[in-house]
Amino acid sequence: MSMKLNEYLSQAGSPQALASLCLCLAEAGKAIATLIAQGALKGVTEKMHSTNVQGETQMQVDILSHELALAQMVLSGVVAGVLSEEVDLPVWLDAADAPFLVSMDPLDGSSNLAINGVVGSIFSVLPNLGASGDDAAFLQPGSAQLAAMYLMYGPATLLVLTVGKGTQVFTLASESGDFVLTQSDVQIAADTSEFAINASNQRYWQPAMQRYVDECLQGVDGPRGRDFNMRWCASMVMDVHRILSRGGVFLYPRDCKQPVRAGRLRLLYEANPMSLLVTQAGGGSINGEQDVLSLQPEQCHQRVPVLLGAKNEIERLREYHRQA
Ligand code: AHG
Ligand code: MN
Ligand code: MN
Ligand code: MN
Repeated sequence: MSMKLNEYLSQAGSPQALASLCLCLAEAGKAIATLIAQGALKGVTEKMHSTNVQGETQMQVDILSHELALAQMVLSGVVAGVLSEEVDLPVWLDAADAPFLVSMDPLDGSSNLAINGVVGSIFSVLPNLGASGDDAAFLQPGSAQLAAMYLMYGPATLLVLTVGKGTQVFTLASESGDFVLTQSDVQIAADTSEFAINASNQRYWQPAMQRYVDECLQGVDGPRGRDFNMRWCASMVMDVHRILSRGGVFLYPRDCKQPVRAGRLRLLYEANPMSLLVTQAGGGSINGEQDVLSLQPEQCHQRVPVLLGAKNEIERLREYHRQA
């Protein structure tokens, strides 16, 4: 029997408000999928003159995706505030007592649109602890997340969700508009022979990462005693989805590239939600030394190194960082 998203949420015992929010985010995902499917016909590959808080040139679709997701959250009535990659300051909605805060990357991997590549949306749901209007309300560790979700706009549109009870994959049935459960309680194998990293940054990596990748590249003749494969999609959603589907590790480490950055990915709307989804599937996620989910955020748009995926490889990486 195929189970729909709303049926899963009630079966998982999710509170009504959380279920409503997840369903609204799913609607946003459908709207974004429809938008980007128009491609150049709707100018979705066009860049804007504006930059976001990270200094990235925004694309029209980055902004439109932000607006589509925001509109659904207003409609849900259960969201007090939204932190988005595309807006400098959190947006406070007219719902101060609403139970949730949402931190989002409305369009992840958006540069891939220029090559008709896969993109996604990432959402992190936090409790609204009552300090409405105070931007510091978003600075909660990832372990406080009530739910995490991404949508993947690929050949099929997927919705991957955790409400803290394992990680589930839903596929959009385009005829009915329903997200149907197609993979339940995903498990990431503890071992792997595949890693994902942007190797063009190699000269900027720290010793622990140099050692790890070097050992993988030595293959069957090296200390690992086997050959490793490498992949890099330049879209975190796609890279993480591959790991959920067939294992592996995804690495965006600390580096000394100028201007100095603590990794590339953003803690509150990339690293934390993906770490919850991966750990709920039995994987690990660290910044090198500590679990990503245990980090106390200091700024809304802060970046963080992220090493996630196959448990035993992540523990090996933690050990290499300890020894360095
Ligand atoms: P975004 O498009 O939301 O700004 O995120 C892009 C991120 C992430 O999706 C991906 O893993 C990473 O940037 C790619 O980085 P490189 O440009 O170094 O490949
Ligand atoms: Mn961006
Ligand atoms: Mn992103
Ligand atoms: Mn983005």
